[in-house]
Amino acid sequence: MDWPAGEAALVTGAASGIGLGIARALVAAGAKVALVDVDETRLAGAEKALRDAGGTVAALPFDISETGRWESVADRAEDALGPISVLCNVAGVHGGSTVEQTPLQVWRWVHSVNIDAQFASAAAFLPRFKSRGRRSHILNTASVAGLLPMAGVAAYASSKFAGVGLSMGLREELRGTNVGVSLLVPGAVATPINFNAGAAEAKLLGRAMDTAVAEENSALLLRGADPDRVGEQVVEAVQQREFLIVTHREWAPFLARVHREIERAHAEFDGRHGPDPVAVAMADGEGAVSP
Ligand SMILES: NC(=O)c1ccc[n+]([C@@H]2O[C@H](COP(=O)([O-])OP(=O)(O)OC[C@H]3O[C@@H](n4cnc5c(N)ncnc54)[C@H](O)[C@@H]3O)[C@@H](O)[C@H]2O)c1
Repeated sequence: MDWPAGEAALVTGAASGIGLGIARALVAAGAKVALVDVDETRLAGAEKALRDAGGTVAALPFDISETGRWESVADRAEDALGPISVLCNVAGVHGGSTVEQTPLQVWRWVHSVNIDAQFASAAAFLPRFKSRGRRSHILNTASVAGLLPMAGVAAYASSKFAGVGLSMGLREELRGTNVGVSLLVPGAVATPINFNAGAAEAKLLGRAMDTAVAEENSALLLRGADPDRVGEQVVEAVQQREFLIVTHREWAPFLARVHREIERAHAEFDGRHGPDPVAVAMADGEGAVSP
């Protein structure tokens, strides 16, 4: 069987939704999988389901936003399954709403889970990947909300835009190495994210979850892509070393509009400051602009 058969992978957010779908697909591809999630009950259920399906898996309950603990989690995963060569950063949360109505505590929590953890996990695994020199791969999960302006999800959008920047920069840093990078940018995927993140936000704020809001926000989402099919798509893309992984074509015109605005602002500018030396150097092949 092809890579990643026989390899060991670590998936965050593996107890639900897209993370569980990716874990299932990795198991089907013959990989061993360390399942990381903060929700121990959900995680135990996922571990049992994957083991019953014949998978070699290890459940590691862990709050990924505890950035100082990533080294020890990497050690635990490798003690259980051997050297990890596929890191899938999938766990994510949303919380708050508009800028004015998002408490700082919620802003920080969303960023700590959605972006700090992606940095900390890569920082823990990259030296291991590089020193071993074997083929390895990092998959990060963003969202179309990381590419497009969306109102009313200030913390989520900010963290997801950061995730796009982190992954695009990481790809440049790792060019010429045996470490691949992919960026999953999902549209709507039918997962319980509104209930899972809603419950976690309510716990953080010490109040009851507003189930009606979670239900309302889930109405369209639950008509989205099947997370198991997205998981299969992700594993296929990682196998083929594809960078951008998208789930729905309908976002293309919205994205084109954003990029047209950026291009127009530059094209129509009167150039009063003269040529930018950094851009000129990049055009001459110094530094990198992808693709
Ligand atoms: N579902 C969608 O439509 C959609 C769209 C775009 C992007 N995404 C992104 O996809 C990723 C997965 O989302 P999903 O829809 O599968 O959600 P989900 O809620 O079904 O699964 C996320 C899992 O992450 C876990 N998690 C949350 N905080 C954690 C923490 N601090 N430490 C460890 N685990 C934690 C949760 O317990 C949950 O099991 C997220 O990054 C999300 O932003 C989802």
